[in-house]
Amino acid sequence: MTDLSTERLASALGTRRHEFYAEITSTNDRAQVLLNENAPNGTVIIADSQTRGRGRLGRVWLSPAGSSLMLSYLLRPPVTSIGHVGMIGALAVAETLDAMGIKEVGIKWPNDVQIGKRKVCGVLPEVVWQGDQLIGVILGIGINVRVDFTTSALAETAISLSNVIPQVDRLDLLLQLLHKLDIWSTAAGSTDVFAAWHSRLNMLNAPVNVVSITANTQEILSGVAQEVTPEGALMIRTLDGGVHRVIAGDIALG
Ligand code: BTN
Repeated sequence: MTDLSTERLASALGTRRHEFYAEITSTNDRAQVLLNENAPNGTVIIADSQTRGRGRLGRVWLSPAGSSLMLSYLLRPPVTSIGHVGMIGALAVAETLDAMGIKEVGIKWPNDVQIGKRKVCGVLPEVVWQGDQLIGVILGIGINVRVDFTTSALAETAISLSNVIPQVDRLDLLLQLLHKLDIWSTAAGSTDVFAAWHSRLNMLNAPVNVVSITANTQEILSGVAQEVTPEGALMIRTLDGGVHRVIAGDIALG
């Protein structure tokens, strides 16, 4: 029996608006349609596999069927709080893993959830506008549940829940995660979100190499991850003493 099915989800999620796909292009694509159709906050789209799953910075997100929990969750935060949505995703996942008894759960800027120093979950917030009007934010989340990375290029940097706990039922994982997402999404805009997210960052004060990406440029910075701002930008102190503000990018420990 598969741990994710239309029947199991319907009976566990009750009145929550949800959709389950054995295969879809991307749950975030479908979430965008539902946002535009006024689906309520907390609506969730779940897929067992994606044919065009996407990651941050235009990357592809690949995951064999049956191996991950992949979902998109709909929120309509105030426009001033859209920067909190990625933080909320990472926090909700981190707290869910804590509650499962997993040790060494941390957040690597901006919103990768790690076990030790290996990535177990990626978060992809996408903001939907109509002209200058905010329609809402899609919070895409992919958790490696039983992906086998042993022969992959990610063997040293990625991890699955199955590597640290014996059995994971993706429906149980989803229910715990939705509970945390429902709680944290009501806090969007409060300083509690930033404080909780900040307290879980696992790379502050560490030497790092950063690819800083703006609309037209890519710059590589080597230095120390000095701080993050309340808006979520990373401040890097380079060896020449300069401090650089990185809004989007990727970091690797130096
Ligand atoms: C990252 O690059 O770390 C973010 C990965 C986000 C992947 C999830 S899987 C569910 C949702 N649908 C997508 O196409 N992407 C996100």
